[in-house]
Amino acid sequence: MHFKKQFVFAILAVFVLFFEYCSKEKVNNNSGSGTDTTDLGIPVLPSTALNYTISYPAYLLPEMALNDNTPADNQLTNDGATLGRVLFYDKHLSKNNTISCASCHKPTTSFTDNVRFSTGFEGGLTTRSSMDLLNVAFYKSGKMFWDERSATLEAQVVQPIQNHVEMGETFPEIVDKVKGLSYYPSLFQKAFGSTDIDSVKISRALAQFVRAIIPYQSKYDKVKQGLATFTAQEQAGENLFLNAAPPNQPTLTCAGCHKPPLFITSSPAAAFGLADAADLGINNTGTFKIGSLRNVAVTAPYFHNGSVATLQGVLTSNIPSHQVAPQDVQTLIAFMQTLTDTQTLSDERFADPFK
Ligand code: HEC
Ligand code: HEC
Repeated sequence: MHFKKQFVFAILAVFVLFFEYCSKEKVNNNSGSGTDTTDLGIPVLPSTALNYTISYPAYLLPEMALNDNTPADNQLTNDGATLGRVLFYDKHLSKNNTISCASCHKPTTSFTDNVRFSTGFEGGLTTRSSMDLLNVAFYKSGKMFWDERSATLEAQVVQPIQNHVEMGETFPEIVDKVKGLSYYPSLFQKAFGSTDIDSVKISRALAQFVRAIIPYQSKYDKVKQGLATFTAQEQAGENLFLNAAPPNQPTLTCAGCHKPPLFITSSPAAAFGLADAADLGINNTGTFKIGSLRNVAVTAPYFHNGSVATLQGVLTSNIPSHQVAPQDVQTLIAFMQTLTDTQTLSDERFADPFK
């Protein structure tokens, strides 16, 4: 009897110890330095930061200077953008380590994705189509999102992390998670002169990276530098883009709202609304922001709700300001295709460092 009791006790003790050990293992895996073990790998970076502060072709410079929304306290540096690049591709920024910014803003599709609505960390769908991230620095007002609800890029970049559909994290948790990853202290040191990590620095680094995404190597760019020539159709398309306007709205050219050479402006010639009962856009006025039309040939589907599948559809479906004469459709498309810059999109500076 006595012996049996001792035996049962011993067995129980083994169980208790075993259980304790397992739960400790689990806690360790989830906390602090343990997060490196989530198998997401560590970023591979060159010892000297890549150059994000390159010189752009001269014909781009006046519009860049006029429209730059970079704040004085967050100027672009190579180390700042490098840190931003790592954060942009780091899945640790989502609650369950499955989604990074790049999941919905993929370099191959011009930093948007090719679906109407994007899938968030738990499989939920966003209610608008993901936006391309080209020339974001030159939307002069600095306002972000289709409905311009975010006043600055610095304020915007931290919102997806906390969005319940997109990445589902909270800020104290993210800062702790980032602090626990072995590769971050030295990146923060280089970018901001200190290994201290906080939400302001995370937002500044992400904003620097996004602002550095500036296409400048398309056929259009080569033509503007005298290094290539448009075909007759492309040239006719540029003429239409610059000059053609609907008869009832003679001032409304494509270029008035999609202003070359950056193909973006924060002050459209007229408010534009794609009729959408489900989404009233900027201040409920039925109007929407549009990002740069550069690379537009690879950013389908189109519009804030991704409701139009092709460029042909954009120009043939009764959309205000976008319906053109049937004979002009292919001509305009030929011109818009010259805006595709695959070289900049495949640049190592913007690529996934975790691969
Ligand atoms: C689950 C998909 C998803 C993820 C993840 C995501 N985004 Fe987005 N992003 C979107 C959608 C959708 C919009 C448009 C939302 C709207 O207008 O309401 C958007 C808009 C933006 C814009 C506005 C661009 C403009 O011109 O106004 C920026 C900048 C941006 N995202 C950056 C980021 C960054 C940085 C991250 C990572 C911290 C990120 N996004 C993560 C889907 C996503
Ligand atoms: C009055 C301003 C205005 C004019 C004029 C205009 N656009 Fe747009 N365009 C916009 C806005 C705003 C959007 C996005 C609206 C939305 O998503 O609801 C847009 C969207 C687009 C898109 C889809 C882009 C994307 O990524 O979703 C294309 C392509 C386009 N426009 C081409 C043209 C062409 C070509 C012309 C001339 C025939 C033209 N636009 C005239 C303001 C304008």
